[in-house]
Amino acid sequence: MEITRRCALGGIAALGTAWMTGLEGSAMASDEIGIETPTPPAPGRHVLRPLPFAPGKLRGLSERLLVSHHENNYAGAVKNLNEVEEHIARTTKDTPGFVIAGLKERELTFSNSVTLHELYFANLGGDGKAKGAIARSISDAFGGFGRFEERFRATGMSLAGGSGWTVLDYCFSTDTLRIHWSGGHSQSAASATPLLVLDMYEHAFAIDYGAAAAKYVEAFFENVRWDEVSRRLERARAAARAMKA
Ligand SMILES: [Fe+2]
Repeated sequence: MEITRRCALGGIAALGTAWMTGLEGSAMASDEIGIETPTPPAPGRHVLRPLPFAPGKLRGLSERLLVSHHENNYAGAVKNLNEVEEHIARTTKDTPGFVIAGLKERELTFSNSVTLHELYFANLGGDGKAKGAIARSISDAFGGFGRFEERFRATGMSLAGGSGWTVLDYCFSTDTLRIHWSGGHSQSAASATPLLVLDMYEHAFAIDYGAAAAKYVEAFFENVRWDEVSRRLERARAAARAMKA
């Protein structure tokens, strides 16, 4: 079977997300271009992932905030995704289109919410100090690490008072790092995989900072786990190389 770049792109993008969310422990199978792909969970069987750090240990982000975020918002997305998938599994050729449309919209919203929350929690718990290859890659992409941080913070703050996500991602179409703005769960970039994820919904900071979003963004950067971001970039680049092979 001939594998076009477009086909590979879709597969790689999906794989990239799977890697980022730690699905590498799932059952794996090789696809046509020799890349292992995880076996997806059955409809309605997504499992809640625990916080990947001790919530009382982060600087400037309280245990109460982090546990509430995890137990209410993230866990709610997992629960809702499972329920909507079960509803979709029961649809038939006679199900009205407007019902399908509503279910599929909710599926996308909850699915992206689960993925982005898992990426967000997994890139916290570090010392906030970027060094080595990841620091150089970001610096090269944005004309200095400070310039990247300035732009990333500004993008996050553009969502203050509203809601959404700020994402440093790797774009498979252009092989570049970009900062992506998302006003909701369903505005992910089509050809990219996330590297660094910042939750800008108020539930991510209001318990600690009220409406003072800038203080939250400051605390976020103090806790970034840059080795995890580096790992995501390495895997994205490996996937990009495989896509071109
Ligand atoms: Fe959130």
